[in-house]
Amino acid sequence: MSTLKPILNEQTVDVWSVPLVGRLPIDTHETVSVSEWERANRFHYARDRHRYLLRRIALRRILSRYLDIPSADVDYVTGKYGKPRLSGLGKESRISFNTSSSQDLAVVAVARFPLGVDVEVVRPFDNASDITSREFTADERGSLGDDPDLSGFFEIWTRKEALVKAVGKGLAIELGLVDTGWPKREAVWQGWRVTSFPSIRETVGSIAFPAACHPVIQPHEFMLHGRPIDIPGRSLPVRSARIPC
Ligand SMILES: CC(C)(COP(=O)(O)OP(=O)(O)OC[C@H]1O[C@@H](n2cnc3c(N)ncnc32)[C@H](O)[C@@H]1OP(=O)(O)O)[C@@H](O)C(=O)NCCC(=O)NCCS
Repeated sequence: MSTLKPILNEQTVDVWSVPLVGRLPIDTHETVSVSEWERANRFHYARDRHRYLLRRIALRRILSRYLDIPSADVDYVTGKYGKPRLSGLGKESRISFNTSSSQDLAVVAVARFPLGVDVEVVRPFDNASDITSREFTADERGSLGDDPDLSGFFEIWTRKEALVKAVGKGLAIELGLVDTGWPKREAVWQGWRVTSFPSIRETVGSIAFPAACHPVIQPHEFMLHGRPIDIPGRSLPVRSARIPC
């Protein structure tokens, strides 16, 4: 295990990108929980099962560094609508995380305040116009206009998902009512601030956190089969004036 200890303060969000490639680590079986192992075995396709295990191993390894405990001891529980959080009342309760994956890339966002994150590979998408007419607001549709490479479409999509995941109530929230403020750099919706972060590989990603927060988003890359690498010089101040949250 690497000795790198991430430093997280009240005004930062760490966004780890994790390529979901390569073999499963040798200690996979001992690291994931029984329920994770059972869930892995329910995937129909071996590739999905493999990616699921890789992202759970990565999540555990990343969180273990903040908590300073072995990855197998990281313990999370899920809320009524499925949002996971660290269990326990100690150090764990002060760290929030959320994850997302698209194809062979996962992201894990970690902060000291509640958050939601979503990432999507920008790709051809047959049902884009159905989703646009059903789930996008009139303002979003108007701003989107002609979007041949679908990057705007996925940016709005990930903003909606990040907001929904921050709130934590899943699809009990009607996506068509979630206003992402796109193409503004950031927007506030029902007490949550949302912004998009620079693309990692061919993806777009967005993150949502309490509106009172103005964190610096710190991107990092996590290599399951090597040392985690910081990506220098890409920190993104969401706004220059910061208030504690
Ligand atoms: C389940 C949902 C929370 C995200 O689903 P998703 O985009 O398919 O999956 P992602 O990879 O982004 O996120 C999955 C992770 O979110 C987390 N998660 C699950 N339920 C959550 C909830 N209610 N709130 C926050 N996070 C949640 C889990 O960590 C999960 O990881 P896991 O699969 O390892 O358990 C939900 O928003 C959903 O199903 N959305 C449907 C997608 C859609 O139609 N979008 C249209 C956009 S316009």
